[in-house]
Amino acid sequence: MQQSPIIILGIESSCDDTSAAIIKNGKVLANVVANQDVHRAYGGVVPELASRAHQQNIIPAVVEAIKKAKINKEDITAIAFTNGPGLLGSLLVGSSFSKAFSLAMGIPLIEVNHMHGHILAHFIEEMDGTKNQPNFPFLCLTVSGGHTQIVKVTDYFKMEVLGETIDDAAGEAFDKVAKMLSLPYPGGPILDKKAQSGDANKFTFTHPKVPGLNYSFSGLKTSVLYFLKAELKKNENFITENLNDICASVQKTIVDILFIELKKAIKETGIKEVAIAGGVSANSELRKRLASFSKDYNVFTPKFEYCTDNAAMIAITGYYKYLQQDFTDQRVAPSARMKV
Ligand code: KG4
Ligand code: ZN
Repeated sequence: MQQSPIIILGIESSCDDTSAAIIKNGKVLANVVANQDVHRAYGGVVPELASRAHQQNIIPAVVEAIKKAKINKEDITAIAFTNGPGLLGSLLVGSSFSKAFSLAMGIPLIEVNHMHGHILAHFIEEMDGTKNQPNFPFLCLTVSGGHTQIVKVTDYFKMEVLGETIDDAAGEAFDKVAKMLSLPYPGGPILDKKAQSGDANKFTFTHPKVPGLNYSFSGLKTSVLYFLKAELKKNENFITENLNDICASVQKTIVDILFIELKKAIKETGIKEVAIAGGVSANSELRKRLASFSKDYNVFTPKFEYCTDNAAMIAITGYYKYLQQDFTDQRVAPSARMKV
């Protein structure tokens, strides 16, 4: 008898993207992401507006994903959703929808840690069979708007944080500097674009001194602020006249800082499989830098659409949890803070 396929509906709503995805036996059939433009006018994510937009977007996103995947909702084996970390009001929309869907369809409910999802995004397989999956154990530099961690991944479920930021995340550093430069929200990808035609060696910024394999980005943010203030005193057009060079120089500094600790982690653990994950792994300089390691190590960079927040990464994590029959029940409550 032929076994019926395992089809997972993934739901992601931890921040400002509403996403629904369908994964069938580990292969992605659909990954729909609805971005929320409403925050642009405020220069950053407004939590209350994010929850309201999730409420509007979630059902259309799920309907579109089911349609794109060319399945019926009755074909879905289980539903997996992000249970944290993230904005509580945003998480509540995804978790409430998922609980209701699980109850209505009589299918298992699976909770997923958002950062776990970013890491397992490396195991998403395309429909045509394309995949590029690291072997265990591997090191994963997980860099997003809220996290910066070096994680030793021994198994789909066994992960150890070897180092992490003691203050701001790398994505936050990108976004805050972009704001100082009056770049529109979301700052990180725009700063990246400007940096591509700038001179990365034009300005230098100091590196933090943090023990172990940890990071700190708050000092960099302050030093860029003082640097800009001093330069603007001498020339009020300093930013407009040097925008691309400032972007390139700050970007290089952030990537340098990230790689100093990553190289240390590679040396200390002897692990030669190295991956990046999370929103900042979409950064062109970070991707280039990792690619330059490929002579000595096996390197893994997610496809762009699996770097920033997406439900395919939640669905793939749900798939592996399904294989372990790791389910949750209706009493589950989302949590804004949660460790990998
Ligand atoms: O993983 P993600 O989508 O959401 C969180 O879990 O936080 O990451 C969002 C972060 C933001 O800080 C955004 O500015 C940053 O990732 N980001 C980038 C780029 N694309 C997204 N930072 C630098 N360069 C990029 N190309
Ligand atoms: Zn994320």
